[in-house]
Amino acid sequence: MSQPIIHLENKVAIVTGASRGIGEAIARTYAKAGAKVVLASRKLDGLLEVQKKIEADGGEALAVACHTGSKEQIEALVAQAIARFGKVDVLVNNAATNPYFGPMMLVEDVAWDKTFEVNVKGYFYTTRAVVKHLMDRNAPGAIVNVASVAGQMAMPLQGVYAMTKAAVISMTKTLAMELGSANVRVNAIAPGLVDTKFASALTSNDEIKAMVLSRMATKQIAEPGDIAGLALLLASDQSRYMTGECVVIDGGWTVG
Ligand SMILES: NC(=O)c1ccc[n+]([C@@H]2O[C@H](COP(=O)([O-])OP(=O)(O)OC[C@H]3O[C@@H](n4cnc5c(N)ncnc54)[C@H](OP(=O)(O)O)[C@@H]3O)[C@@H](O)[C@H]2O)c1
Repeated sequence: MSQPIIHLENKVAIVTGASRGIGEAIARTYAKAGAKVVLASRKLDGLLEVQKKIEADGGEALAVACHTGSKEQIEALVAQAIARFGKVDVLVNNAATNPYFGPMMLVEDVAWDKTFEVNVKGYFYTTRAVVKHLMDRNAPGAIVNVASVAGQMAMPLQGVYAMTKAAVISMTKTLAMELGSANVRVNAIAPGLVDTKFASALTSNDEIKAMVLSRMATKQIAEPGDIAGLALLLASDQSRYMTGECVVIDGGWTVG
């Protein structure tokens, strides 16, 4: 059978936060589309489970423990990816944290710093390490940043997290301009509410859940797999003319 139009054959992708949730769904989708996938998160156990699932589906993956708040661990991650698969073509910045839920005025410095360290610096440092490698090879590449609708609207009680997502959207646009001539595309995805551990504080709260669903066109919270198809398109050559965009995928939560 001929190759489907959207595929990642001959590509190597790093996906951060790949041990569960949206990152796992993206990693498994990429592997099914033909990519060799490097799976990163802090805990190796969860990654090895995902690696096993990918291998059972006939794909190839490498699990690497990496705290994306650490520049040294990020550089080691990229080096291990290159050592194993020879190159990196695609990066999905997806690992994020949200340690504080409450009014912005009351946030502690430590929670602020942690959120910016992982969600902003982590995305930037990982991008920089991969882009340096792409430039050294004079090769094209695609960066996919998982942002959030939180970065585009007021988000009471999640204000610091929302600021980091706004920063990711800003980073996406500027890097797209700066890297376009080098044939490196940078796009972002802004999911709404997705049923993962990360969102459990919201999805397990009946009042918040009902409020979100009442404003949502589709009246359904997303599954992680609902986000993966868009991430596949943005990584593939089928979106070769697209860069600097932030694509909302929220079941029509913010459309109205
Ligand atoms: N769920 C939603 O409703 C929603 C909505 C909009 C945007 N998002 C975004 O989607 C992305 C993924 O979230 P999710 O909902 O899929 O969350 P999740 O299911 O909780 O998964 C989070 C992943 O990130 C990893 N991780 C967390 N901190 C890390 C760190 N410091 N270094 C490396 N890996 C780390 C976790 O693994 P370890 O514990 O092993 O590190 C895990 O693999 C995030 O960027 C989030 O902001 C989610």
